[in-house]
Amino acid sequence: MTTAIRAKITAVGTYVPPRVLTNADLEKMVDTTDEWIMERVGIRERHLVDKGVAASDLAVEAVKNLLASHPFDLQEVELIVVGTVTPDMMYPSTACLVQHKLGIKNTWGFDVSAGCSGFLYALNAGVKFIESGQYKKVLVIGSDVNSSMTDFTDRAVCIIFGDGAGAVLLEPASSDGEGIIDHVAQIEGMGGEFLFMPGGGSLNPASHETVDQKMHYIHQDGKNVFKYAVKKMSEMTERILERNQLSGQDVDCFIAHQANRRIITATADRLGMPLEKVIINIDRYGNTTAGTIPLAMRTALEEGKLKKGDLLLIAAVGAGFTSGATLVRWAF
Ligand code: UT7
Repeated sequence: MTTAIRAKITAVGTYVPPRVLTNADLEKMVDTTDEWIMERVGIRERHLVDKGVAASDLAVEAVKNLLASHPFDLQEVELIVVGTVTPDMMYPSTACLVQHKLGIKNTWGFDVSAGCSGFLYALNAGVKFIESGQYKKVLVIGSDVNSSMTDFTDRAVCIIFGDGAGAVLLEPASSDGEGIIDHVAQIEGMGGEFLFMPGGGSLNPASHETVDQKMHYIHQDGKNVFKYAVKKMSEMTERILERNQLSGQDVDCFIAHQANRRIITATADRLGMPLEKVIINIDRYGNTTAGTIPLAMRTALEEGKLKKGDLLLIAAVGAGFTSGATLVRWAF
């Protein structure tokens, strides 16, 4: 008889670049106010890279910080999965660049493009490799340099995004019940028209014209993205809880993609979850796309809100549209 192998997260490392852009700074750049941003989105400040720093650099720093908290031989890593929509370049993949910079010899890897669900999709891909029984150590990374595609004259966009990264180590779970329990996910491509970057791909290759038309920036219909995110975040979390015969009351810690404080609290409200169980750090980092979930894991650990044995619910909605939710019995 074969026993099902479960994957568990055994370490988390994160990194944000040191430069901080506050709401007061943004007030000098566009027609906005600290009060509007705090009330409508819940962000006070975000971190941005300096010129020449790319997604792979943030990812490498996140892995180094993971290693500092959980030392192990990096050469044992068999697979690197990177969630990002801001790869250093179209190709090679960020996974290849990270592998090279970290000097990991016998590994392979790939990138996952799923917008703000990028980390969750990368995590679930990594989990499947552990569950196959053939892999013992998988690095899953979410890293985005959103400032590379932000129009800092567009007040509806530039106030939201920040740069950041996080990494987790996946290993087979040794004891019953620990680790990644279940996940649900869905893509709905009709959402592509509400959040996208039109320039630089095969449809609109980079040219003077695409740059003049600002096609290399984030294009966002904020209202429609907001409405979809509130609806879908609830739908995904309710779906995963229901099919595991659980309710919001059973969850010890809730980590949602940090896009807007109001989206997170609306979902928690719907699940009947008190705010003490909800991790919110969007005030410090803004929306770092694939970075938000590992950054929130780190916050949860630091604040003592996520402990061994806790039931963690993770949810994300992003460009695509992409969405998903994952249930975890936390293992350390
Ligand atoms: O992870 C996926 C990434 N994106 C998202 O999750 C975005 C989801 N959407 C949102 O978070 C919100 O829709 C926004 C934060 C983008 C916008 O907030 P909102 O409450 O939906 O504002 P709105 O678009 O309805 O605009 C209300 C007003 C407008 O003015 P008028 O037309 O009523 O005079 C906007 O022009 O607020 C104005 N506005 C601003 N005012 C001050 C838009 N951006 C700003 C700003 N400062 N930065």
